[in-house]
Amino acid sequence: MKLLQAKLAKYTAPQQAKAAGVYPYFRAISSEQEPEVIIEGRKVLMFGSNCYSGLVSDPRIKEAAIEATRKYGTGCAGSPFLNGTLDLHKQLEARIAEYIGKEDVMIYSTGFEVNLGVVSCLTGREDYIIRDEQDHASIIEGSRLAFSPVLKYKHNDMESLEKQLQRCAPDKVKLIVTDGVFSMEGDVANLPEIVRLAKKYDATVMVDEAHGIGVFGKGGRGTCDHFGVTDDVDLIMGTFSKSFASLGGFIACDKEITNFLRHHSRSYIFTASITPASTAAALKAIDIMEQEPWRQEHLWNITNFALEGFREMGCEIGTTSTPIIPLYIRDDYKTYHVTRDLFDEGLFVNPVVTPAVAPQDTLIRFSLMATHTKEQVEFALEKFRKVFRKHGLIQ
Ligand SMILES: Cc1ncc(COP(=O)(O)O)c(C=O)c1O
Repeated sequence: MKLLQAKLAKYTAPQQAKAAGVYPYFRAISSEQEPEVIIEGRKVLMFGSNCYSGLVSDPRIKEAAIEATRKYGTGCAGSPFLNGTLDLHKQLEARIAEYIGKEDVMIYSTGFEVNLGVVSCLTGREDYIIRDEQDHASIIEGSRLAFSPVLKYKHNDMESLEKQLQRCAPDKVKLIVTDGVFSMEGDVANLPEIVRLAKKYDATVMVDEAHGIGVFGKGGRGTCDHFGVTDDVDLIMGTFSKSFASLGGFIACDKEITNFLRHHSRSYIFTASITPASTAAALKAIDIMEQEPWRQEHLWNITNFALEGFREMGCEIGTTSTPIIPLYIRDDYKTYHVTRDLFDEGLFVNPVVTPAVAPQDTLIRFSLMATHTKEQVEFALEKFRKVFRKHGLIQ
């Protein structure tokens, strides 16, 4: 065996989980991502989706995607920088700028690439990136690529953030980057305080709205809108892969920033534009989210119902107040076994284990869509009660 293969052959954790019958990844879905999906020929309830708006199989969005494919074809065959910009991309950028409330918008191929290409290129060696220790992997990767020193603050801890700000040279750029809603824990960043500290220390703020859009704010605009801090947050990032029922991502900010990014951000320049179908789908999703406020209202009703149900049951769910509900198990293998048992009971949920979290913080991530019914949530709560009792997680 060659050296590389011999080294990698020592990594056997997936094989061990498969042998134990609890490997929970790459479960192939053979239907649309409705609240009910088909896996291995069985119907199971989907409580692992990030499409909080529930629009992912909406016929109007499908139609828009088909029409765009007819008009523009299936791909763009190039980067937005060169031959890959369509008038449809420009239309989507203008629509998001107006929706989010920022001067300009750039569309990237994924949300991951937004964070990678924005966080890595705005600051120099003498500047600083300051980020929450629980920020999404894409922000961490973006900051690893930057030349600036990266200062981490304790999760959503404003004293810790202020200490880091005090360490910085006052006349240098300080870019604070935070998730709006944290993707695994479901808690919400303290944006009013972050903005206050940013003003005090002359810092720039970037918020990742991947899990805020479709959930918070008017028409699902996100946490910045919810807290009324859109004007104070310099850069608002979002993805199309969650509530926008598509694929791609955006950054919304002032023209001085986009002018620089358009000519320096490598994950924007050196990759192909999103497909016409993805562009048209995102455009349509924004219209529907604005026109159908019932989605957000219902999402919050079932979210509050589920939060109450899990708390009453005695489950440990941390400080979440959103449709992302973490159920702490605090053991890798138990998390796999509970996920498997829930699946056998007809529920799809996501296990979050090491190295995504520390071994003592493993959890099951339960997430809701606006298209779930209250009865489906009740069914899920009953199944959780049964499985959690079996594993001694509740009484
Ligand atoms: C907080 C956060 N930011 C960014 C991303 C990346 O988004 P995308 O799926 O568009 O690459 C994700 C996706 O998991 C996320 O949870």
